[in-house]
This record gives sequence, structure tokens and C-alpha cells, in this order.
Amino acid sequence: MAQLWGGRFTGNINELAWSFNASITFDQRFLEVDVRGSKAHARMLARQGIISDEEKDDIIEGLDGIFSDVKSGKLIITDTYEDIHSFLEANLIERIGDAGKKVHTGRSRNDQVALDMRLYARDSVVRMAGLLKETIGCLLDMMRNNLDTYMPGFTHLQKAQPVTLAHHLGAYCEMFKRDLQRMKDIYERMNYCPLGAGALAGTTYPLDREYTAELLDFYGPTLNSMDSVSDRDYLIEYLSALSTIMMHLSRFSEEIIIWNSNEYRFVEIDDAYSTGSSIMPQKKNPDIAELVRGKTGRVYGDLMSLLTTMKGIPLAYNKDMQEDKEAAFDAMDTVSNCLVLFTDMLRTLKFNKGNMEKSATRGFTNATDAADYLVGKGMPFRDAHSVIGRLVLFCIDRNCAIDDLTLKELKDFSELFDEDIFEAISLKTCVEKRLTIGAPSAEAVKKAIEAGERFLADFKI
Ligand code: ARG
Repeated sequence: MAQLWGGRFTGNINELAWSFNASITFDQRFLEVDVRGSKAHARMLARQGIISDEEKDDIIEGLDGIFSDVKSGKLIITDTYEDIHSFLEANLIERIGDAGKKVHTGRSRNDQVALDMRLYARDSVVRMAGLLKETIGCLLDMMRNNLDTYMPGFTHLQKAQPVTLAHHLGAYCEMFKRDLQRMKDIYERMNYCPLGAGALAGTTYPLDREYTAELLDFYGPTLNSMDSVSDRDYLIEYLSALSTIMMHLSRFSEEIIIWNSNEYRFVEIDDAYSTGSSIMPQKKNPDIAELVRGKTGRVYGDLMSLLTTMKGIPLAYNKDMQEDKEAAFDAMDTVSNCLVLFTDMLRTLKFNKGNMEKSATRGFTNATDAADYLVGKGMPFRDAHSVIGRLVLFCIDRNCAIDDLTLKELKDFSELFDEDIFEAISLKTCVEKRLTIGAPSAEAVKKAIEAGERFLADFKI
């Protein structure tokens, strides 16, 4: 057991307590960020005259050496160390001797781990933003290709009014745009450096916290040492934003699962993203979409776990906070995997446009437009609503659509019907006449696509 403490102890720690306490099995992910942070700390210490330039150079060289040896497999991280910080410090001392013992001057593992998590999460936010941009880009492509792919729009999972596939996909595009903005918001708030907070009360060394922050590309140092070591708000915000991404992916997955069902047959999922059944030879299951939907619960769980961990913790650092890592890592891994796979599945999804259009012509999706037609001829809307309601009932009885009736039959319901009714309630008219901002006509959707393109081009994090 290699540990950073022990001077004030006379007995040995219980073996189970040691492994219960240790975090090396999961915080070894911090190898790169811990090295990055320690190098910046050493540079600052040397600039402030707290260590010499030679010692700083030795520390940097030593840390780089350890990092590359771990990467190449020459050096193995074992669980004889308590955590990644102990592993690095012990190995550094082994390599460079006394200078290695100075790297922790003016630092505590409390501000060290706070820094590591920030650096790791900040990298993850940037990567997640990149993945979201891919998803949005993919949706914009699909929208461009489906401006006149008509389909029913639903409320209560009942056919309501016709829309286009481009418009339907555009709804998800807006959701992912908001998700992307959230990444930027989080980045802006989290991008402050906690290093230099020490265990909780700063240090008496003349540290230049602004310089360390600058070396690590932060906007500046955090402003309260006690908050610095115990703040995990940014992680909670991030996990909450990740949960929202999953909620969006899950809703979209559910639609794909419905569209892929035997009853709908709106889509064909590529073989690469579906699986078969071990017993039913005819089956081709939408497993990826189902798993994305399923993993949503897990990411919500990660958020709940962190919120619950943090709720009773007095200032400042408490060991409970070690529990932030597995939840945060799990959420980051899960969401990035889901985004990548889901977007790949989307790219290869085939739409059965004929089925979608046929479905849109059934189910009276043009009933509102038929009522609006009568309004256009001078009937008050409430009366028109009632006339078309009776008309729909008549059609249900006959198992036909409103468009299937003759003008003579229509006139039995209202004298205001004329030859132009058929044009007025055609699928194309129902969609293309909806021209207001955010509506489904090709003209309106084209503007939404342009806005999406501008949004992507302007987005910077
Ligand atoms: N493994 C610890 C964590 O993840 C590092 C900080 C340890 N600090 C301490 N005072 N024991 O939070």
C-alpha cells in the first residue's frame, strides 16, 4: 500500500477499509488531467521562486515520462496506490528524487481533485458539443432531403394534421440546438480554476493563482477557497444537461420504434443497427433505439446520485465527494456513446415515403382545413367545426376520406362547398399553406434550416 500520509498513524489500516477508501480503480482516468494540472502548478511554483527552475524542469520531465510510460504499457497503474494523485507523486519521487517531493507544495488533494474533475468535465463538455453538432448537421441534411415528404402529425398518438418529415425532424433539431447551447452555458460558468484553494483555506505560500488559471486556459481563479474544494454544481448542471439530451434521444428513439413497427412501416432500420431474435426467424428488432431509450434511466440515476450525495455535505471537502466520479463518468460515457450510435443509425435510416404519405391521407388529417374552407366562405368557425364533425362521422361510417366524397354529397352538409374544396383540402395544400414562422410548409422549413446552418456556423465554445 503506497499512501501520501502515515506519519501520525501507529497502526495499519484495515484491509477492507483501505480498498473501500481507495479510488484508484476509477480515478485513474484522471492521469492526463492530473499531469496537466501538476505541470502548471510546478511552473507557477518556480515562477514565484517557491521551487527552483531545475526542480520545475525535473518535475515536468518526470511527469511526462510517467504519462508516456503508462500510455505505452511500460508502467502499470495498480491498486496498491490509494488514488491517481498518490500514484503520480510516488512514481515522480521514484524517478526524480527530492524534487518530486516538492510538487505538492501549497497544494492539497482537495484542490487537486477539484481541478482534475473540472479539467476532465470541461474536455468532456467540448467533446459532447462536437457530437451534438454532428447530430444537428445530420438532421439538417435529412430535412433538406425531405421538404415534401408528407406524413401525419400526431397529438395523443392520433393523427392530427399533416406535416412533413423535414418539419418533424426539425423539432428534434431545435431540441439538440438547445442542448448545444446548454453545453456553452455550462462551460462559461465552470471555467474557473480551483487550484490554490489548498485543503480549504488557501495557503501561506505566495501562489499566483491567476497565472495557474491562465496556464490551464481558465478564465481566472475561483473566488472562495472553501467553495472551490466543495463545489460540484457544474457537474450537477452538466449531468442535468446530459439527462435532457437523453430525454430527447429517448423520445426520438420511441418514435423510431413506433415508425418501425409492423403497423406503421414508416422506416427501415439499417441491418447494422438492428438485431434478430434467437427463436423468431422473421424478427428484426430496433435494439439500438430501445437501448438508447433504456439508458436514459441510467443517466437520470447518475444525476440523482450526485444530487443526493451533495445535499447533506457541510463545508468544505468531505470524502462523500469521491462518489461524484463514477456517476459522472458513467453519464459522460453513456451519452457520448448514445449520441454517436444514434446519429449513425439516423444517417442510415430509410424512410418509406409512400407509406407515410398514404397514412397522412387517412385519419382525417385535413378536417381542420375543411372547416377553415367553410370559414373562408363566410361560415363562423364554431359552425364549420360542427359541420365537418358530422361529415367525419358520415365518412367513418362509409370507411372513406373527406376527399372521396362527391361535391353533391358534400353539399348535403353545406351549400357553401364548391369544386375548389378538393384542392383546398389536398395534402399538399394543407401543408404548403402553413407559411408562418415555424410552420411545416417547405418555405417555412427552409428558413428553419437556414437558421440551423447559421447557428452551427456561429457556434463556438
Ligand atoms: N480520491 C479523493 C476524491 O476523489 C481525492 C481527494 C482526497 N482528499 C482527502 N482529503 N482525502 O475526492
